[in-house]
Amino acid sequence: MHDTMEKWMPIAQQHGQSHLFHFWSCLSGDEQQQLAKQIQSIDFPQLAGLFEGSEEAVDWSELANKAQAPDAIRLNDPNVAFSAKDAFHCGEQAIRQGKIGMILVAGGQGTRLGFDQPKGVFQIGPISNRSLFSMHADSLRAATRRYGVSIPMFVMTSPATDAATRDYFAQHRNLGLKEEDLVTFCQGTMPAMDAASGKILLESPSSIALSPDGHGGIVSALDRQGILRSAASRGIEHFFYAQVDNPLVRACDPTLIGYHLLSRSQMTTQVVSKRFAKEKVGNVVSIDGRTHIIEYSDLTDEAAHRTHPDGSLQLWAGNIAIHVLERKFLEHAAQKSDCLPFHRAMKSVPFVDHNGNVVKPAAPNAIKFERFVFDLLPLAERSIVVEGNPADVFAPVKNAEGSATDTPTTTRNALVQQHRQWLEHAGISIEENVKVEINPNWALDADEVRQKIQTPCHIRVDTYFA
Ligand code: UD1
Repeated sequence: MHDTMEKWMPIAQQHGQSHLFHFWSCLSGDEQQQLAKQIQSIDFPQLAGLFEGSEEAVDWSELANKAQAPDAIRLNDPNVAFSAKDAFHCGEQAIRQGKIGMILVAGGQGTRLGFDQPKGVFQIGPISNRSLFSMHADSLRAATRRYGVSIPMFVMTSPATDAATRDYFAQHRNLGLKEEDLVTFCQGTMPAMDAASGKILLESPSSIALSPDGHGGIVSALDRQGILRSAASRGIEHFFYAQVDNPLVRACDPTLIGYHLLSRSQMTTQVVSKRFAKEKVGNVVSIDGRTHIIEYSDLTDEAAHRTHPDGSLQLWAGNIAIHVLERKFLEHAAQKSDCLPFHRAMKSVPFVDHNGNVVKPAAPNAIKFERFVFDLLPLAERSIVVEGNPADVFAPVKNAEGSATDTPTTTRNALVQQHRQWLEHAGISIEENVKVEINPNWALDADEVRQKIQTPCHIRVDTYFA
């Protein structure tokens, strides 16, 4: 441990971070080891650059001024290059050939939801009470069943969610996924810095205040942990990417994958038409011929409210964080360690002061740095944007009950609504206020429901089709 001190103290000192060793002599051997490991993983020059702002000189208002609606495959557009039917068949073929894997990002904590476990464990099934993880696993198993092929799910956790996520899968027998088809990997972290002084914060005398490096951290995590290599050896050429918070996602949606393949896209993004100008979704736009996503918090009011003469929004495309990514494109990106910029966020981060007292700030005191996966978009030579019907693809759980949008209730209602429609199209009538829920292992879509329902009937009580 003495070696660590000798080697790293001067480096920390050079960057004004020698306070990281302030409690060193009072720490046990194990504690010193833990702190040493964290210090060794810090890129001090990079952090100094980030604090001074030299790495993030983004002028959002200038970008917003130049932003235009993206070229997109719109719903019901008769002039598209490929029909939805062609895309569906092409996507199905790629899945059957084992060329597709699924990525589920689940590193965030359910802070806004007021849930202190990994969000994926949150029970959302309107009748079944299945968890978000369970809904995604069922959806993937249904695709596996339909296409007669094993499709691996790569679940990204963070240090905050990793152990609990692994325990959850173990306790629930991998939610029915085969051992070799469930790969859990942990994303990296970044230190939080005091916003006034640029000092890295200690969360305890023996540990640095670290937070997940954003879902963009997936690029280096996939590479570092050999997942891109093992995916390649399994023959996987593209990843279907989704967020754990959206149970309406159809795992490995063949139509979206098909559009991606027919367009030879390196990164495909599904969007929905924004309901109002300042809706809290990323804005998918085109700037100088490249696709970008400008987060709602970064989009100027002027740009958000810009309309066409008919009153419709110019920047209409809302990011729902469903992508298809070419494996080779990810491999290429992973070779350039700094290909994704860091975004900064001001947060309240508890820390220990010089006297070893824990301080819990009432107001944001620290800068956290995060990378976003969608910043890969402008790096792609070929990227496409595909519009989806929100009722079929987007009902995320973000906020606690009582909030105006994206609550457990709004998500459950969306699921019930979708399944109600599938059943009604199959000739079933359902009493008002009666809930229905369909497990994708019973039927994956409206067509499969129609095949299953032989005799039209009337549903009077809550019913779970499983
Ligand atoms: C995100 C998008 C937004 C989009 C919306 C759709 C960002 C910055 N914004 O917003 O453009 O319209 O989803 O629902 O992503 N995660 C990790 N590791 C991290 C951080 C997040 O795995 O370090 C995962 C979370 O578990 C979650 C997802 O990424 O599944 C989204 O993260 P969150 O911070 O909740 O983004 P939103 O603000 O919801």
